[in-house]
Amino acid sequence: MAEKDVNMLSLEEAAAELALLAQVLGAANLAYHQDDAPEISDSEYDRLKRRNAAIEAQYPSLKRADSPSEQVGAAPAEGFSKVIHAQRMLSLGNAFEDSEVEEFAQRVAKFLGVQDAGLSFTAEPKIDGLSLSLRYENGILVQAATRGDGETGENVTANARMIDSIPQQLQAVPELLEVRGEVYMSHADFENLNSEQAEKGAKPFANPRNAAAGSLRQLDANITKTRPLEFFAYAWGAVSEPLAETQMGAIERLGALGFVTNPLTKLCAGAEEMIAQYRVIEAKRATLPYDIDGVVYKVNALDLQERLGFRATTPRWAIAHKFPAELVWTRLEAIDIQVGRTGALSPVARLTPVTVGGVVVSNATLHNEDYILGRDNKGEEIRGGKDIRIGDWVQVYRAGDVIPKVADVDLSKRDESAAPYVFPTVCPECGSAAVREEGDAVRRCTGGLICPAQAVEKLKHFVSRKAFDIDGLGAKQIEMFYADEVLSIREPADIFTLAKRDAGELGKLKNREGWGSRSAEKLFEAIESKREIGFGRLLFALGIRHIGEQVAKLVAAHYVSWGRFREAMDAAQGERSEAWQELLNIDGIGEVVARALVTAFGQTHEREGIERLVSELIVVDAAQAASDSPVAGKTLVFTGTLEKMTRAEAKARAEALGAKVSGSVSAKTDLLIAGPGAGSKAKKAADLGIETIDEDGWISLVAGL
Ligand code: IVH
Repeated sequence: MAEKDVNMLSLEEAAAELALLAQVLGAANLAYHQDDAPEISDSEYDRLKRRNAAIEAQYPSLKRADSPSEQVGAAPAEGFSKVIHAQRMLSLGNAFEDSEVEEFAQRVAKFLGVQDAGLSFTAEPKIDGLSLSLRYENGILVQAATRGDGETGENVTANARMIDSIPQQLQAVPELLEVRGEVYMSHADFENLNSEQAEKGAKPFANPRNAAAGSLRQLDANITKTRPLEFFAYAWGAVSEPLAETQMGAIERLGALGFVTNPLTKLCAGAEEMIAQYRVIEAKRATLPYDIDGVVYKVNALDLQERLGFRATTPRWAIAHKFPAELVWTRLEAIDIQVGRTGALSPVARLTPVTVGGVVVSNATLHNEDYILGRDNKGEEIRGGKDIRIGDWVQVYRAGDVIPKVADVDLSKRDESAAPYVFPTVCPECGSAAVREEGDAVRRCTGGLICPAQAVEKLKHFVSRKAFDIDGLGAKQIEMFYADEVLSIREPADIFTLAKRDAGELGKLKNREGWGSRSAEKLFEAIESKREIGFGRLLFALGIRHIGEQVAKLVAAHYVSWGRFREAMDAAQGERSEAWQELLNIDGIGEVVARALVTAFGQTHEREGIERLVSELIVVDAAQAASDSPVAGKTLVFTGTLEKMTRAEAKARAEALGAKVSGSVSAKTDLLIAGPGAGSKAKKAADLGIETIDEDGWISLVAGL
């Protein structure tokens, strides 16, 4: 075949040839390295590789994630590379009842300060697959990434190229376009794949979603190629120009560009029509060739979506109306008690395995002591007051991906000899007393860090993905190191002294069973790479009760530096102190959270452990969100009536621009936004000499940001 000179190739031709070369060289590589059966001669292989490199040199932007020039063996040695999403991939809030859909529509209207009758929404099936973000630059697919934790996903570009319904090139599109949607497998293809798996003696997939995920996330994209995956486009990420003015318009545009969009998508005038479309889709569910688990509603006008914005992880402008969970009866064989990181004793139901929604379930949560008893601590009945006993027939369900739960118990099948369950009052792990504080549904072990279960769980949390996220140090390794007498890890600081201790000890890690010099070295490197950590992440990683990821972020954004925060925690030990008030004034921090923080830093034992850890780390100051906005880092107070936006919208906007919004005026207030009818707050601000503007002043201050 006559080959064109590399510098004569058009962009499209170059992209097409690179795709072909990736395929040919990939297959040759695989044949050579894995199957020991070379398909092309060495010289031909080398020639193609050189041509690939020459085209890449001519068009660097077309270099593929699965470029043959990056590959030495058959598949990359380690997992997928990571992709930081240009725009976060969020999840959706859930509604289960019709009334929650009505509330959603009202909430939207209230936030925007409009009549809900004037709003329209799209309703479309919620596909039960896995979400994928496709990045097109100048119309050419350059990257595909899974959702991951929403901020960072896996680079599955080579795999996505194997899916027929994903266009490789688009005509007449914005320079940058990220298309998002769901990868799924149809029922028929799932059945076929499982029969093939069975023939090969390989493990079958539990459901089409697992099959789709397992097929997309293959290190060797040639395997993905053999799996019949499909893609529905329903959203977008970063775009250099808007796709349309409405959700429906954007979906139509995606359809026109060659993406498959769901035909059951409908425009609805309000909650009533949304619920009607839910019923239509629900009725069709059994005959659809793919799995869906609910209906997603989205505000149609994209300018309103933008005004509504996001809560921590979910948009205010969309919600998923889930189908009711499948309920299945099975036998409760035993109740085990697990002790968590904050000492909570959690009862776990051990069940005769049963399939619920396509997944085999053998454990379910029983929540707490009261849930088993059938009566909460206010004396209110749960399940009509029926208690749960070992040996009972119980009804189990799974809602989404969450831990299975026990819904009901069948008293007619109860064995006469079944005795009421007695909840332990000592910790099954350390023997310390397990007590319930007044008003708390949870019984907790009082052993603190002397309780091995609490210590281990705290460590597992510390290394988990949203905390320190140390490669190669997961739950299993934590348990091993906790039990190891020589290289023991008993508290987080021990992780960062491991390499030093390993160098000095006889029982070196590389000589342990399951370890070698390479794996030990890699672990030390992974730990070393996490010595530098952001303040918010560190605070979350400490696993202090009530301090979740969002709270940790709020606290970090307020105090900015670890040093300032630690001093503030010292100063806040007295509950009348100014430092205590400052903590409470942070929007989103209530008394319970504030007390948990101050208590953690007030306890010598816990405090010393934190100090030992921090002395091993470099703690990076928290970024003040959106630091280029004029209100970033400022404390604002809104008072009086706002006429052009609701209070909720104003507050959300201010926070998105990095400001803190407080309910009361103090010396710490930087700016007061006062609408008509402002009273004592405006007066106090004037007395304190605090800058005050009206609503129009506020709008022009933040306009265009
Ligand atoms: S919209 C910001 N639309 O559901 C909102 N999501 O529970 C972006 N999903 O992560 C999502 N079908 O994987 C949207 N028609 C649909 C969907 C859909 C399935 C998935 C998606 C998302 C998850 C949230």
